[in-house]
Amino acid sequence: MEVIVLPTAADVDVRAADLVAEQVVHRPDTVLGVATGSSPLGTYRELARRQTEGSLDLSKLLCFALDEYVGLPASDPAAYAEVLGREVAGPFGLPPSRVRVPDGSRRDLEQACRDYEEAIGAAGGIDLQLLGIGANGHIGFNEPTSSLSSRTRVKALSARTRADNARFFDDPADVPSHCVTQGLGTILEARQVLLVAQGKRKAAAVAAAVEGPVAAMCPASVLQLHRSVTVVMDEAAAGDLA
Ligand code: F6R
Repeated sequence: MEVIVLPTAADVDVRAADLVAEQVVHRPDTVLGVATGSSPLGTYRELARRQTEGSLDLSKLLCFALDEYVGLPASDPAAYAEVLGREVAGPFGLPPSRVRVPDGSRRDLEQACRDYEEAIGAAGGIDLQLLGIGANGHIGFNEPTSSLSSRTRVKALSARTRADNARFFDDPADVPSHCVTQGLGTILEARQVLLVAQGKRKAAAVAAAVEGPVAAMCPASVLQLHRSVTVVMDEAAAGDLA
């Protein structure tokens, strides 16, 4: 695991964009795993800026989301399908069909999970998975106690995650109780992983993920078992490292 600590959150955005760009230049049709939430937004904006200025071509990417809420229509502004349309597909110049998101509104969610795993497999697997980290150590929506070898499945969101994500909804009561998320085993199959973390609020989770034991209580710690992980964080997020 390579750990990079930079002075500010803006520096994290630029370094993470450099790492994604390096992969995309090497392979323009990279299969990119995309996270939602606030952590990767600066990286997406920096990548989009490079595309607009003509120094990077993102138009051949195929993207797979990590997760989606259960029960929100795909057109809801808080649904990850909608967020990724806004933050990734549009700015990167990708047709919506090149940004795949688990279907959290299907009647048969188990089948939706199987279909999603199959779609990732049919694309040849994820080349580079971008991740944020929850304050409780989750990646994707693999909450503490998730099985370290889990696959895409329906999970209940923890009270802490629902409270943390209430900011994306008009009313905290609107935060869904469940999600469909890639499993930890699914995430571990990505050929490279890039985790970004900013701010003091993430410091304890980052320290547990990077320096703690590999344990289901901090799902991100499973990344210690992956052979190609880069963690890029600002000084605030690095505050609890030894
Ligand atoms: C989102 C996701 C989550 C977030 C995490 C951090 O697709 O998978 O693991 O990365 O909850 O969220 P932010 O970045 O909003 O602090």
